[in-house]
Amino acid sequence: MPRRRNPVGDTTIGTIPVVAVVSPKGGNGKTTVSSNLAVALSRRVDSIIVDLDVHFGDVEYALRMQPTHRLDDLVDQRTHRDPGTMLSAHPTGLDVLCAPQDPVAADRLGTEEVFAVVDQLLLLGRPVVLDTAGGISDFSLGALDRATRVVLVCGTDVPSVQAAKKLLATMRQLSMNLDLVDLLVNRSDSNVGLSVADVEQAVGRPAVITIPEHSSLAAGMNSGSPVTESSPRSPIAAAFQAYADQLLDLTVGANPATNREVVR
Ligand SMILES: Nc1ncnc2c1ncn2[C@@H]1O[C@H](COP(=O)(O)OP(=O)(O)OP(=O)(O)O)[C@@H](O)[C@H]1O
Ligand SMILES: [Mg+2]
Repeated sequence: MPRRRNPVGDTTIGTIPVVAVVSPKGGNGKTTVSSNLAVALSRRVDSIIVDLDVHFGDVEYALRMQPTHRLDDLVDQRTHRDPGTMLSAHPTGLDVLCAPQDPVAADRLGTEEVFAVVDQLLLLGRPVVLDTAGGISDFSLGALDRATRVVLVCGTDVPSVQAAKKLLATMRQLSMNLDLVDLLVNRSDSNVGLSVADVEQAVGRPAVITIPEHSSLAAGMNSGSPVTESSPRSPIAAAFQAYADQLLDLTVGANPATNREVVR
């Protein structure tokens, strides 16, 4: 499949976002959101996704990657090679930096050296999605430090809401900018006692995007093809695309004929 480059015509991109996808509670959908969002961003402009779930990262499965180099390789070779040349190409135009293959290799990684690599990638001036692990690790805090937008993934269950509140409280204590936080309610339609409105009220902010429980998202994870890649016209993919376009501050001109992507 050919890769896409920046759009042409009267479509303009106003912002190059660095997006940290976080949720202290595990299994809430961070990697599902990260992979779908990164592919949606890449439909507009070549983007990068970095798996900062260093011990058990699964972006590589979400995107069916077989990386030649991983995060630990980039850390090891940082002084000899430009990290930007060691990313793995996804067919959609997304460049992927996968987590180490095994937790022992990940254990060797320090946050300073990992973020030295991440910071070099940020200098490329491309949209970057940072997938993170559960908990509030130094890797997650480093991602939050660098983010121009934080996607806080929250389910409609009490533990998820409480974890989200604790993360926001931690960010407040660390004097981080809470205005950068967008609440994403995942499995928004699961009828388990809390509504989206309940979550919004408890977390103290409106949901900027809601994603329903849908088999296509789980199937996409299992097949290694996010919905934004396999079914770009589906309502869920459209929701991710609309949010990605919002992050890019994308404006589309009046003439749709010129609003197309260059294929290389
Ligand atoms: N809206 C959804 N509908 C259906 N399945 C979903 C949805 N969101 C996530 N899933 C599924 O739930 C599982 C956990 O999701 P995911 O791996 O994205 O969570 P995570 O927050 O990244 O987990 P971890 O904390 O382990 O990194 C996956 O199998 C995924 O496909
Ligand atoms: Mg994950």
